[in-house]
Amino acid sequence: MKDFYILAIESSCDETACAIVKNGKEVVSSVVSSQIDVHSRFGGVVPEIASRMHIENISPVLLNCLKEANMSVEDVDAIAVTYGPGLVGCLHVGVQAAKSLAWYYNKPLVPVHHLAGHIYANALVDELQYPLLALVVSGGNSELVLLKEEFDFEILGSTQDDAVGEAYDKVARVVGMPYPGGVAIDKMSKLGKEHYKLPKVHTEEELDFSFSGLKSSVLQLKAREEKAGRELNHEDLAYAFQHTVVDQLMDRVKKAFEIYHPKHVVLAGGVAANSLLRQRMTEEFGNRDDVKVTLPPMSCCTDNAAMIGVIGTVAYNHGVRGSLDLGCDPSLEL
Ligand code: KG4
Repeated sequence: MKDFYILAIESSCDETACAIVKNGKEVVSSVVSSQIDVHSRFGGVVPEIASRMHIENISPVLLNCLKEANMSVEDVDAIAVTYGPGLVGCLHVGVQAAKSLAWYYNKPLVPVHHLAGHIYANALVDELQYPLLALVVSGGNSELVLLKEEFDFEILGSTQDDAVGEAYDKVARVVGMPYPGGVAIDKMSKLGKEHYKLPKVHTEEELDFSFSGLKSSVLQLKAREEKAGRELNHEDLAYAFQHTVVDQLMDRVKKAFEIYHPKHVVLAGGVAANSLLRQRMTEEFGNRDDVKVTLPPMSCCTDNAAMIGVIGTVAYNHGVRGSLDLGCDPSLEL
């Protein structure tokens, strides 16, 4: 069978990325230009700056990607692009680039969902089996997704308020760490011990998440310690926060597992890089005969276009095509 090459473009938040993926599995080239250094000065992503930087970066990133693959756009069979969810001005840049290339080179355009890309990043390291349960955790999303079969997404639970990565970033600010705070809190928690207690969160729906109350509890704890004239121990706080968050995530994953009996459990999104979450997922599902667990490679936890190439190929095979009047959808649902 003839090899199938897809050019993928991702620009939904603060990474401009292009990749070429062969047969939906093999990354031929992948280039990511991150804006983290710029946004960290402001304590979070500034949408207006992000979209301007995408405009500056998209052409060099595309050219580098083609150069790395030693290919031209003429050589690819289709062009995939993230068209939502994300920041509207950012998504527009990728979508416009993809549409221009699809029009000029007369290639099929394949619009894809950003979170579907994060889930399918796992296909780069493992054969996916269905039914598949995915815990999607990032700076903008916290979702439990069931795929009864390939390319069939059902949301089982989502956050009622903040996304888990957002909660990490906000707590990091409390202890004076720069954006993005997840990495710092994860590291710091390993130096801490069980000392502070943060409340367990209850949600009306058993598979939903909630993180804003936890963030308020951290602020209250800080105020309480200051009032009592004690210095807040940042390492112990990071330890308490990390364990409370991961306990909540694992509680929902285990409940969903008991209800739906998936054959495969995967992690996805930026927070999938979290060391405790990776450890607990492996402990829970790693030694069982009835299910397998896959953790995405660290390079696919942050935004990238390789994962868009994988889901783009799956979507193409399922007949998904975009027309040249494709727009982006900042709150696109799975
Ligand atoms: O998927 P992503 O790049 O952004 C979105 O598309 O939303 O995820 C970024 C988020 C940030 O909130 C960051 O703090 C968090 O992922 N993050 C982590 C870790 N590494 C990144 N959170 C917890 N532990 C980590 N090791």
